[in-house]
Amino acid sequence: MADTDKFKKVIAHAKEYGFVFQSSEIYDGLSAVYDYGQNGSELKDNIKRDWKDSMVRLHENIVGIDSAIFMHPTVWKASGHVGAFNDPLIDNKDSKKRYRADVLIEDFIEKINIKINKEIDKAKKRFGDSFDEKQFRATNNRVLERQKKIDENLSRFKKAVSENNLAEIKQIIIDNEITCPVSGSKNWTDVRQFNLMFDTKLGSVSEDADKIYLRPETAQGIFVNYLNVQKTGRMKLPFGIAQIGKAFRNEIVARQFIFRMREFEQMEMQFFIRPGEEDKWFDYWKNLRMQWHYILGLGKDNYRFHDHENLAHYAKAATDIEFNFPFGFKELEGIHSRTDFDLSQHQKFSGKKLQYFDSETNSSYVPYVIETSIGVDRMFLAVLSTAFTEEMIEKEDGKTEIRTVLRIPPALSPVKAAILPLVKKDGLPEKAGEVLNLLKYDFNCQYEEKDSIGKRYRRQDAIGTPFCITIDHKTLKDNTVTLRYRDSMKQDRIKIDDLPLQIDSEVNFKNLFKQLSV
Ligand code: GAP
Repeated sequence: MADTDKFKKVIAHAKEYGFVFQSSEIYDGLSAVYDYGQNGSELKDNIKRDWKDSMVRLHENIVGIDSAIFMHPTVWKASGHVGAFNDPLIDNKDSKKRYRADVLIEDFIEKINIKINKEIDKAKKRFGDSFDEKQFRATNNRVLERQKKIDENLSRFKKAVSENNLAEIKQIIIDNEITCPVSGSKNWTDVRQFNLMFDTKLGSVSEDADKIYLRPETAQGIFVNYLNVQKTGRMKLPFGIAQIGKAFRNEIVARQFIFRMREFEQMEMQFFIRPGEEDKWFDYWKNLRMQWHYILGLGKDNYRFHDHENLAHYAKAATDIEFNFPFGFKELEGIHSRTDFDLSQHQKFSGKKLQYFDSETNSSYVPYVIETSIGVDRMFLAVLSTAFTEEMIEKEDGKTEIRTVLRIPPALSPVKAAILPLVKKDGLPEKAGEVLNLLKYDFNCQYEEKDSIGKRYRRQDAIGTPFCITIDHKTLKDNTVTLRYRDSMKQDRIKIDDLPLQIDSEVNFKNLFKQLSV
């Protein structure tokens, strides 16, 4: 199945099974805004729990907070977002469509890359095992020419961005004859900067002074509370503050389902450290965050680091953890070495000292910060798109059918166990009710008695339920049930009393966390 096909199926499945709905759908939706349904909100909560517990419970020196979305407007001047949180915009005069100029250039470069890869694939087929890709790249004229074009454009683009040279960004588009994907024309406006922050008014007076912003990142809520938490929690460096919350960005190119949204959720942790120790801690968090991803079992090959060359206005070093989404490798999480930029800026703009007294060195200083920042929605998409599987299975009558199953890591599954009386009579529903009562305090369970047992299994497979428990006539005699495993479809006969331990052994976060080297 082509990945674009798979992506379409994942989106349709997400809607059909109550994971993700378009916001305000009955009014034809609101672009790049989504709602999470009954199963989606459970999956999202489990992702958040996985992240927060791995931060706050597992580290004695990390605490969690929950700061407000609205903040004093000066926060965003100090952080640099008012001045620099921009995307370069360009309009096509014929189609009247608006684009991010940097995305047009990136897409153009990607097309050249695709041509290079095709060239390599062809050669691989021709030469078989003796093919040496490195040598081919270094000697094939067409590949060399194309690579040169990529390198020249990239360095021109980087220079233009670093100098904020919007005319040059437009010139790159003109020189490469980049056309509008809709009209096919090269009739472009000038490039201009567009600030991504949403603003609104506080109170009833509509003067500029009352303009406030919807936060574009949760991190600033942590920075402005640094001293509150340090003092009230008597925290000693190094220590971290973690927070999960909504963020808002007026994205120009909002696409790829929940990958790029205008309202989304972030899980961010700022780790405050001694200046000079930033490289050590940057490496520590890079490794630990990657481990956190690996242990979920979505496949190590689906992740890679991508170090930034173009650093954000606050960063000394930055790397992305990229994930292999159905549309290719894209940023899932960012790890940033933010120096003392944010705290120093807030110190300057607020006039309040944000320093730490280090009793070991007997000196005061503004701490440095390593940040880890991941989007809940992107993590959700990573889990959902990797979990979505269609497989051919043989039925009892020998015929085959396609089984759609979400192989969600059991700890994250929305429903942990489905409790299914074989028939709706003979006291089986009552017995199933007893099983439900045994399990429901520890696990999110679903009780279902409608349709054949096969249909009910399929429905649970489709929402990623790791266990189905069937109560039949034998259960009434010996208190045993059939436990069916989602992934293997194997069935065991086990005692009702053994169910809690058996389920717990698969779904408890503890089993994941024990694999983390914290
Ligand atoms: N505090 C640093 C910061 O906000 P970022 O790279 O702009 O850094 C961090 O964002 C993470 O937030 C990204 O890696 C991504 O997972 C998520 N994210 C950013 N913009 C998003 C959007 N428009 N929709 C969904 N997730 C987004």
